[in-house]
Amino acid sequence: MRLDAYLSRCTPLSRKEARRAIMAGRVEVAGEPVKKAAEPVPQEAQVTLDGQAVTLPGHVYLMLNKPAGILSATTDAVQPVVNDLLPDDLATRLHPVGRLDLDTTGLLLMTSDGAWSHRITSPRHHIPKTYRVTLAEPLSADARQQLEKGVHLRNDDQSTRPALVELVSERIIDLTITEGRYHQVKRMLAAVGNHVEALHRHRIGTLELDVTLAAGDFRHLTEAEIQSLTGG
Ligand code: URA
Repeated sequence: MRLDAYLSRCTPLSRKEARRAIMAGRVEVAGEPVKKAAEPVPQEAQVTLDGQAVTLPGHVYLMLNKPAGILSATTDAVQPVVNDLLPDDLATRLHPVGRLDLDTTGLLLMTSDGAWSHRITSPRHHIPKTYRVTLAEPLSADARQQLEKGVHLRNDDQSTRPALVELVSERIIDLTITEGRYHQVKRMLAAVGNHVEALHRHRIGTLELDVTLAAGDFRHLTEAEIQSLTGG
């Protein structure tokens, strides 16, 4: 779709006003200012007007409280998947934003908007994710320092980025990481000589899992919540 048409579908601007905004340099596509109204908008590109992300109407954005034992996938031949928790009309359109392990619980975003989910999961954006981690052993001061500094994970070239560690109780910590490597939290704790017994994600960026959502329940995100994850 042409940029002026896209913008007028996403915002209250008429096609003519959208063209003016584009020519005035107020519009960026994938981080680059674009001044040509006829420029096609690529599928997964983020479009901003005056620095604010805009999205096509009709997209759906949910937060789901993922239970244990459900795969973060749209379909699977064997295991139940998160899309099975949604009504049919949503299940056919939405995909999970990133993954949680089968036994991990908590905040999982789901959407029909590929550009939005791409931005949240892109390693370039370092959106913080906070996990409540139940440990096999109390966290030693040395292990805490290593997590805060960055640890080397087996088979990975680069150390992890510094993590934020908050002690909740003797064997429970809140760990905030800004990457999304495979089994990252479990591997980080194993690398410092501990073991994860239970893992629950409760925050992505500034978005907290709604405490009123029972395991398996979902709710639609507000416009402010949608923008808070990609608007900045
Ligand atoms: N880190 C893990 O080890 N597992 C998850 O599900 C999420 C982060």
